Amino acid sequence: MPRLRGHVEALANAILTAYFELSYRLMDSATGRALLETASEPGAPPVHGYTDLADLRVLVESLKPNHGSSVLDLGAGLGDVAIWLHQATGVRVIGVERSRRAVTAAHRQAAAAGVGDGVRFVVGDVMRGTPPASAAYALDSLMFARRPTAAIATAAIHLQPHARLFATVIVVGRSSPASLHRSLVNEGLGVVRLEDVSVAMAARSRRRRVIAMQLARARPWTIADRGSLVLVWVEETMLFALVRAGLARRYRVVVEAKRGR
Ligand SMILES: C[S@@+](CC[C@H](N)C(=O)[O-])C[C@H]1O[C@@H](n2cnc3c(N)ncnc32)[C@H](O)[C@@H]1O
Repeated sequence: MPRLRGHVEALANAILTAYFELSYRLMDSATGRALLETASEPGAPPVHGYTDLADLRVLVESLKPNHGSSVLDLGAGLGDVAIWLHQATGVRVIGVERSRRAVTAAHRQAAAAGVGDGVRFVVGDVMRGTPPASAAYALDSLMFARRPTAAIATAAIHLQPHARLFATVIVVGRSSPASLHRSLVNEGLGVVRLEDVSVAMAARSRRRRVIAMQLARARPWTIADRGSLVLVWVEETMLFALVRAGLARRYRVVVEAKRGR
């Protein structure tokens, strides 16, 4: 049975990696950038997830990144947040991301932003280990694991003891702040902060859905671009419906690793 579970998990991982590679073909194109930039909040970096300025404020407040330290961006996507954080605080950021296409794009963006060695990106699976750092953040990336709270605990274990991890996660299925809190404590984590931010995510999802459809209709995109935009529309429609039905929620959490590596 554990062997079968291992095969199923490996298959699910392979599917997820393929999905993200495909998704970054769109997100790293002119169409994708137009979508992400139009859908993001003014002043906030364009993200693949749902990070807004309120998330970034809490991230900076909780991790207190400064010049002398390094922070990990777990599931860094196209690297916009890592670059933003370095420029805003001077902290060194190491982005770990399993999509090669996203890492290539992130390197290109970092070079264009002129951040030098203040920001770097590596291809890797954050569940298998990460470079050393005194704090980490994971923006809408750890929820792709079967049990998001276990993924948060695994990511935290790679940090130094008492280091903080800021994460935003979308939990699919019925959940509440109390149930999430319990699961995190059961994973051996200290919970410093936990908020339900589903309303903001639903508003963002609706906005992205509208923009995806407007873009698909407005410009003479290639068939592939148009198809990808329709796919984004379908994804956002489904997510919005799940949130409305109480079957998906987004949480912002700050945890402390009690144990470390
Ligand atoms: C929804 S995107 C968010 C990207 C970025 N954090 C943002 O907010 O724009 C989720 C990202 O997490 C990455 N990811 C998911 N699981 C991962 C893992 N185990 N190791 C490394 N990257 C992972 C995916 O490849 C994808 O780029």
